[in-house]
Amino acid sequence: MSSVSDWEATSNPVKENRAGNIGKAVDRYEGPLKVTGTAPYAYEVEPPSPPAYGVLLSASIAHGRISNVDTAAAEASPGVHLVWTYKNVPAQGPRPARYDFFTPSPRPALESERVHFFGQQVAIVVADTLENAQAAAALVKLSFETEPQSVIFHDHFDEAVQPPGESDTEIGDFEAAFAAAPVKIDDNWRTPLQNHCQMEPCATTAWWEGEQLTVHTSVQMVRFAQSSLAETLMIPHKSVRLLTRYVGGGFGGKGSFYEDLVLASLAARELGRPVKVAFSRQQMMHGTVHRPATEVRVRLGATAEGKLTAMSLMTTTHCDRRGNFTEHASNFARSLYAAPNRLTGHQLVRLDLPVASAMRAPGEASGTLSLEVAMDELAEKLGMDPVELRILNEPPTDPETGKPFSIRQLVRCMREGAQLFGWDRRNPKPGQVRQGRWLIGFGMAAAIRGNFLLPAKCSFTVDAEGVITVKQGMTDIGTGTYTVLAQIAAETLGVPLGDVRVEIGDSELPPAPGSGGQFGAATAGSAALDAGMNLRKAIAEIAVADLASPLFGGPSEDITFQDGVIAISNRSERLSDLIRRNRPEGLTAEGEIRPAADAGKWSSHTYGAHYVEVAVDTVTGEVRTRRMLGVFAAGRILNWKTARSQLTGGMIWGVGSALTEGNSVDPHYGSLINQDLAGYLVPVQADIGEIEAIMLDEVDDKANPMGIKGVGELGISGAGAAVANAIYNACGARVRDYPITPDKLLAALEAL
Ligand code: MOS
Repeated sequence: MSSVSDWEATSNPVKENRAGNIGKAVDRYEGPLKVTGTAPYAYEVEPPSPPAYGVLLSASIAHGRISNVDTAAAEASPGVHLVWTYKNVPAQGPRPARYDFFTPSPRPALESERVHFFGQQVAIVVADTLENAQAAAALVKLSFETEPQSVIFHDHFDEAVQPPGESDTEIGDFEAAFAAAPVKIDDNWRTPLQNHCQMEPCATTAWWEGEQLTVHTSVQMVRFAQSSLAETLMIPHKSVRLLTRYVGGGFGGKGSFYEDLVLASLAARELGRPVKVAFSRQQMMHGTVHRPATEVRVRLGATAEGKLTAMSLMTTTHCDRRGNFTEHASNFARSLYAAPNRLTGHQLVRLDLPVASAMRAPGEASGTLSLEVAMDELAEKLGMDPVELRILNEPPTDPETGKPFSIRQLVRCMREGAQLFGWDRRNPKPGQVRQGRWLIGFGMAAAIRGNFLLPAKCSFTVDAEGVITVKQGMTDIGTGTYTVLAQIAAETLGVPLGDVRVEIGDSELPPAPGSGGQFGAATAGSAALDAGMNLRKAIAEIAVADLASPLFGGPSEDITFQDGVIAISNRSERLSDLIRRNRPEGLTAEGEIRPAADAGKWSSHTYGAHYVEVAVDTVTGEVRTRRMLGVFAAGRILNWKTARSQLTGGMIWGVGSALTEGNSVDPHYGSLINQDLAGYLVPVQADIGEIEAIMLDEVDDKANPMGIKGVGELGISGAGAAVANAIYNACGARVRDYPITPDKLLAALEAL
């Protein structure tokens, strides 16, 4: 296995060529298809023959069992092909004791009479039309018997346990150092249960040809879903071809898959015709996964000069009864600031709620909403500027492991952000800047998110037209995967972008882990780079061995690739001419990436700094974000436009988590009260004033051969805290129970 030093020593055109298309604001590869509405999302894919339509029915209790099922009227309803409940659904692979995010395993649908949460899918009706299926679904009679339920997080704190296999992390003696600190912060922050709210719901179109299943669905992880589906259906993996060509948002919520995939596949087999099944928006809220609520206690102890001596983040969060998912809201603090005495950990409460799982920047998104506000509070107590406080506590090496940072430009992000934003115009005293009925405030926060690389493969083929086709079982969940893969192909083979085709989202292509944990671009891109380099080598060998080539006999390592032409000094020919003569059927090279054997020697993260200006209406409690600036350091940026879009999207989501987003649990039904996008408020265009994301020129040589990292989750980390800090600076009120809605803000203002 290679090591990071091998990567550092080896040059490649992506790393070397700063004038190429890598990093440029290249338009989205699939943009025209999306804006013209012709990119076929899973539900819109045309199957080979007319499909039937499935409608799912969901449980109306949080905990208990299905006590009676009467499907007679539904079965007799016009156009109905089948009605399934746990009583008659076909046999499926058994559910494992615990699900693991990356290990394929069966996910049986309509598994038993047991109801584990409100909104669990309990029946499906399949009919010739969607309307007939919906009409028949209304005729299915299900009775439920309820059992005692626990659904309100804060009522069950006494049942909190340490997540299995975890223990608190302590360095030094936190309690003693905290007790002795002359300046202290000790506060609790609450974040609510949140939903991903992807634009595209979970949806599947499935059909069989003999023993072979084809499914188009909407997921983040191709191979995981394909293998797990095969195991659910108890058929060989190779009998399932799973495609997910366009995905209308994932954010962690489509890291796994749901009953639409399993039941569309089963029903299509049963009926011998294609079947389409989609979740409704309400089913997305309950029947997929969510980010669980947290309560985070932050304790900071500092010297009078502002040096942190003690720091602790203790998180309590919740998951479903059968899960282990933990919102690790304390983890990021282990790498952020220096402090000799440290304590971090998590506690988990199991509830009869829908399944908790990963949502964009799991951990950081919730945790920064506390620590990055606590740092603001500490700065005020010390009479220090919040930027200077952070810089004073910048660690020289990873504060817990002592490992060197692969690269860490957090201070530069903060300084450049302060300069560009005009931070020096901030009045440190709250409530001083008034414009009419608005109080104006500035806030800032740091951003951090881990960097990951997973194993992946890729293939590149050059054809007789000189066109490069990239093939990879990767996904593009709106992030820009298609585009950056095209850029890497164009760059490595020296062809125009228009001469690259990208095929992804298909389980029959070389496997890649998919999109998640902001590892997608680095992982998929690194495998693509390897494929590109291998194809270059293969082309070069053919060229110097071809008597008919002007490059014949030349040193193959001197060949340049540019504008579709291969050359050795002044001898050249078109790439397409060489391929047409030698490999008219095309020439393919495979590529692969694995994490370097010594990658664990470095503490590797992405960083940023957020600056926000808000206006607070002290009469209505309304908050407006007027200006947002994020400055980020995330390695070499592959595409300025798609990366910026990822970062600003994350920042806007941070505004949502600060001001509007959150789901309340109905204590009687155990349901989520806000079940649609009218009640669950995500920020819209009008909620966002000026917004800009700037990316520092950085290369992280320890990350991968191109020195790139990821930005998909970095933007949300800290963004909401900067909003909360700006609100405080505007009006002097701190609300530690997110979201900071007008009612809470008015109450806090009244209490001043
Ligand atoms: Mo993610 S929230 O790791 O898809």
